[in-house]
Amino acid sequence: MSNSTRVSLSEKSKLHVEHLTPAIGSVLSAPIEELVAGLHSEEIVDLLEQRGVVVFRDLDLTDEQQMAFTQTLGESEKGTKITKITMDPLENPNADYIKGAFYWHIDGTMSEVPIFASVMSAKRLSPTGGNTEFSNTYAAFDALSDEEKATVEKLQVVHMLEAAQRYVNPEPSYETLSSWQEFEPNTLPLLWKHRSGRKSLVLGSTASHIEGMGLREGTALLTKLRSWATQDQFVYSHKWQLGDLVIWDNTGTMHRATPYPLDCGRLMYRTQVAGFEPFA
Ligand SMILES: [Fe+2]
Repeated sequence: MSNSTRVSLSEKSKLHVEHLTPAIGSVLSAPIEELVAGLHSEEIVDLLEQRGVVVFRDLDLTDEQQMAFTQTLGESEKGTKITKITMDPLENPNADYIKGAFYWHIDGTMSEVPIFASVMSAKRLSPTGGNTEFSNTYAAFDALSDEEKATVEKLQVVHMLEAAQRYVNPEPSYETLSSWQEFEPNTLPLLWKHRSGRKSLVLGSTASHIEGMGLREGTALLTKLRSWATQDQFVYSHKWQLGDLVIWDNTGTMHRATPYPLDCGRLMYRTQVAGFEPFA
């Protein structure tokens, strides 16, 4: 979306918008009926692209309302459905696998077209920790020096599932490693040039190495960029309350959960909006 579109949309906005930090995150409020009817969807999508994260407090949507609202924001890949996000092994047999969520990542770096947005509501909270943190990867790129921007623009990064899984299980059995390696590596540009003309960094826990660069040098650069992009001025940390609904633009942010007790029963309901823009 062009700048002029953004300006005209915000000028005719009927919604109350409050920014959470200078670079990322805004709180919106609107009646549930208007959200579910899609009356504000264009403005919400536009705000998402500008601000990375949009928060609604005390919304307390039913499952049907969350699915209906998600559908107003765009297409869904396989029909809109609610995915229960919990690390509790009694409720989620794949709990081990999703412990990767404790590390900075972008959803869908193993596919050509990542999802556009995730919509998440809190159903049960952790007594401690369990924030969701978001980093604005547009703002992080924009703040690099011209020299750093020129370097980043030329590089391709090899993403591998095993790179992300090693954070959770650093000493896998051969069988486990083999199951990770069933996923082919995915080579993506380090810099995502969006159709809007804006540019964002593509980083995260699946980033294994930089193509054509020595391992030490590449690891150093990827680590330097992750540290850069996750500094306080680019990050919003959401402390969940029951009834919250949080939407994030997966194409211009990284996210992670902060640590919490795995058996505390923390439960989130997540719906997703399909992507429309490939990384490259
Ligand atoms: Fe995620």
